[in-house]
Amino acid sequence: MKISLAEPTLPRTGALVVGVSEGRALSPTAAAVDGKTGGALRRALKSGRFRGTRNQILELLAPNGLGASRVVMVGLGKARELDALAAQGIGGTIVGHLGKSGESAAAVAVDSLKGGKLKAVDWAANIAYGARLGSYRFDRYRTREKADKKPSLRTLNVMVKDSKDARRLFSRLDKIADGVFLTRDLVSEPANVLYPESLARQARGLGKLGLKVEVLGRARMEKLGMGALLGVAQGSLRQPQLVVMRWDGAPRGSAARGLDKQPLAIVGKGVTFDSGGISIKPSKGMEDMKWDMGGAGTVIGLMRALAGRKAKANVVGVVGLVENMPSGSAQRPGDVVTSASGQTIEVVNTDAEGRLVLADALWYTQRRFKPKAMIDLATLTGAIIVSLGHVHAGLFSDNEALAKAISAAGQAEGELVWRFPLHADYDKEINCDVADMKNVGSGGGGGSIVGAQFIKRFTNQVPWAHLDIAGVTWSKKGRPTVPKGGTGFGVRLLDRLVAERYEAK
Ligand code: BES
Ligand code: MN
Ligand code: ZN
Repeated sequence: MKISLAEPTLPRTGALVVGVSEGRALSPTAAAVDGKTGGALRRALKSGRFRGTRNQILELLAPNGLGASRVVMVGLGKARELDALAAQGIGGTIVGHLGKSGESAAAVAVDSLKGGKLKAVDWAANIAYGARLGSYRFDRYRTREKADKKPSLRTLNVMVKDSKDARRLFSRLDKIADGVFLTRDLVSEPANVLYPESLARQARGLGKLGLKVEVLGRARMEKLGMGALLGVAQGSLRQPQLVVMRWDGAPRGSAARGLDKQPLAIVGKGVTFDSGGISIKPSKGMEDMKWDMGGAGTVIGLMRALAGRKAKANVVGVVGLVENMPSGSAQRPGDVVTSASGQTIEVVNTDAEGRLVLADALWYTQRRFKPKAMIDLATLTGAIIVSLGHVHAGLFSDNEALAKAISAAGQAEGELVWRFPLHADYDKEINCDVADMKNVGSGGGGGSIVGAQFIKRFTNQVPWAHLDIAGVTWSKKGRPTVPKGGTGFGVRLLDRLVAERYEAK
């Protein structure tokens, strides 16, 4: 779908979208259209349940006195509650609705709203952003879908005064959407197409945006002693990969704030398929484990967003890529591996593999880059879905300021997180008689926290946060800006975190 922002005019064809706020209050353009159509909008409003509640829709077909083929009234809710997120939701609602209508072109009239806190250009840019996010579809493998089942909308023109300013605001958001779309694509690809080497190739392709990308193969990882990550990979025919992406965008001279020295590091679990290994998973739902690289997908999408919008920050993204398979060469329950940190691990359950991958990826990241902080993302535990369902991601951190900033960024972007505790008593769960630790707890429950405690043992005291995104990486129900399937969760949150905390102004 092509999205544009331009000065207001009444379109001669296609759909015209106008806003109506709570209590059936017509926006200025809606009132003007009502006049031109001999009061058709107000008459329509009288005959139904539409009140102007946010995201409600009422549609008038083939209106007299207008060139447009239809007028879509969209509920804005209460003007004073209309913030950026609400505007994005409205944009997503509009494309969701018109996609099913058969209409191929639409124009949205954005007026400044009395009592609204957003400037018209802001809310136009956010409508466009929401429309773009909501237009995502992964249909690469649907070769026989009938044209009349596919979304019909081709162009969306968001009309607002001072559209040049709106275009500037949108161009930044559009780059973030590029990152979100990349993450959604990666998460959606099946594991026969997306495996460590092909995923690393995709990351390498981002070099054209100015990212520095390095890929370490098995031999390099062996030299670095990454026995934990390599143990997971050893049952698969696919070669493991560790990808390092660097965006050095901090301007010289921002040294005073330390911005151009130590980077922020984001680390992702990239298990391109998690069968469980020898501790094999039940077959029901196992197909979902193609998206067990969701953490890595988010890191790669984030790096794309940062490079796309030329963020003035230094950020490294590291992803550990493996496939977890059972085979004659697979690791066995009870095997002891030595991690890059030197700590030994008894692999009691080969299905608790994400933490093994992160152990070596995090250790490597802090050793090499001395980051100001490390944030890891991982589809780590089924237990986080028991706790939080598909609404919040689990947040674990040993740093108050970092945890607060992540929560706030998530709130602002509609990517919610809920903080869990860390405590020495959970850490004890992974103490082991055979090795320095084992990779699962001793039956004390709190599986997501125990997983976080395991990871923490490999952070070497660097300020750290862990996001368990197992419940939010994939969605079976769509929302206006997050169609069902891969969500891209975390790209927007982390982009905002970088902008607010790590970026030169
Ligand atoms: N990738 C899974 C976690 C997962 C489960 C993600 C469901 C998304 C949906 C992870 O590798 C795993 O298997 N975790 C185990 C850990 C257990 C063996 C301690 C789990 O959650 O059962
Ligand atoms: Mn697993
Ligand atoms: Zn896994």
